[in-house]
Amino acid sequence: MTWFESPAQTADLLTKAGYLADAATATTAFLAGALEKPLLLEGPAGVGKTELAKAVARATGAELVRLQCYEGLDEARALYEWNYKKQLLRIQSQAGTGEAADWSQTHDDIFTEEFLLTRPLLTAIRRDEPTVLLIDEVDKTDIEVEGLLLEVLSDFQVTIPELGTVAATRRPYVVLTSNASRELSEAVKRRCLYLHLDYPDAEREREILQAQVPDLDDRIAEQLVATVGRLRDLELKKAPSIAESVDWARTLIALEIRDLDEKAINDTLGAVLKHASDQARAVKELRLVSTGSTTK
Ligand SMILES: Nc1ncnc2c1ncn2[C@@H]1O[C@H](COP(=O)(O)OP(=O)(O)O)[C@@H](O)[C@H]1O
Ligand SMILES: [Mg+2]
Repeated sequence: MTWFESPAQTADLLTKAGYLADAATATTAFLAGALEKPLLLEGPAGVGKTELAKAVARATGAELVRLQCYEGLDEARALYEWNYKKQLLRIQSQAGTGEAADWSQTHDDIFTEEFLLTRPLLTAIRRDEPTVLLIDEVDKTDIEVEGLLLEVLSDFQVTIPELGTVAATRRPYVVLTSNASRELSEAVKRRCLYLHLDYPDAEREREILQAQVPDLDDRIAEQLVATVGRLRDLELKKAPSIAESVDWARTLIALEIRDLDEKAINDTLGAVLKHASDQARAVKELRLVSTGSTTK
């Protein structure tokens, strides 16, 4: 399948799907489809890594299959496992009929499709319809899981000892995301196209706000984006992401705030900064006048 026709068309389709991509992002997303190579997206939290995979699915009418990674994720959760309970029931029900138990027959019976629980990686490989496979937050898994991913990402096939090899009839569009909390193995990187996503520039962030919070007027959008930019320059525990800009915009509208002055920032800082120490830092660095909750 051709996923996209050109970088420009990719940008266009993504925009229609609600994702505003810069030139580098659109080009890389196009190439991932054209070369059928997995796309590794790295960058801080909240810059649109997960959203890009979702947007590719929306833009191309493909279904999204998501493998959320976490510490302790194993093959049984990522690939497939056997439905032991059901297998046990089958064995017990056969024993109940009084027939002589022929182990090899039973074995052949219970290691079949009917008893297989497919997990995201296998699901994505076996689908006949266009599929976007999102392997989200890879850096949260243990390094061993990367070996498993490599098998899937290099051959697009999975070997199940009892059933044989399942090869993809149709390669999924694969997106891996990472917050770079640890380095991924060179072997994984080698198989992927790489894109570093960062906070958008002021203009793009205003466009994202416009698209997601249409009621926000231009002047306050500009103030908001400028302020968020200043906050990102401070060394905070958790810099405000795009999601927080959007939340902040909605907060300002809910409170009918039309000018983002120091007091307004101070009163609504909880929408953007989620650590007390970050808030204190912002108040100090942006020289906000502390209004205190009792003096309003
Ligand atoms: N380029 C973009 N266009 C439109 N919305 C975006 C864009 N980038 C980020 N967002 C918004 O930011 C939110 C957070 O992005 P997300 O993909 O969850 O971040 P992460 O990089 O942590 O996976 C999304 O829900 C989306 O609303
Ligand atoms: Mg994410």
